[in-house]
Amino acid sequence: MNSIFHRVSIRKYKVRPVEREKIMQVLKAGMQAPSAGNQQPWEFYVVTDRDKIRELSKTSPYAGCAELAPVVIVPVYRKEGIIFPIYAQIDMAIAQENIWLEADALGLGGVWLGIAPLNERMDAVGKILDLPTDKAAYSLFPMGYPAESRIQQDRFDESRIHFCN
Ligand SMILES: Cc1cc2nc3c(=O)[nH]c(=O)nc-3n(C[C@H](O)[C@H](O)[C@H](O)COP(=O)(O)O)c2cc1C
Repeated sequence: MNSIFHRVSIRKYKVRPVEREKIMQVLKAGMQAPSAGNQQPWEFYVVTDRDKIRELSKTSPYAGCAELAPVVIVPVYRKEGIIFPIYAQIDMAIAQENIWLEADALGLGGVWLGIAPLNERMDAVGKILDLPTDKAAYSLFPMGYPAESRIQQDRFDESRIHFCN
């Protein structure tokens, strides 16, 4: 199965915990991402505390689906001590996509909930996780065994390809 052509946003989850080995495998995929100057700005907070998850689900108007997830992964980046801070959010996007694809490959589902670059949301997540000032929340990724299924939309559009010979 090629997860690029299978992954969809999953916002409903079974009431079933995700095994620690699967969480670690998903995060391994995240950390395998390329980054500018190989700076690897990431750290990952793994939240299973129900109160904290509820609070996280309120940090954006579009994060409500996180509330009932068994686990929420919060990718966070270091703002200091990295080589190219301007690329940190781009690096994080690649790591987040790797996480999403690996989750799919393991039979899990999740959805990327946008936090960065919106300062208000980043601060709200940072407060809940008690992040130090040199770390910034990038996204929320509620994850679990899917309680919904969908066929991925075909987005191939040949008119967007321009060969320059
Ligand atoms: C940067 C980014 C931010 C997103 N933020 C949200 C969000 O806040 N809430 C949400 O429900 N979905 C969010 N999504 C999921 C998109 O809505 C979803 O990926 C898109 O509709 C395509 O559907 P698919 O993932 O099933 O292919 C986000 C996706 C990306 C890439």
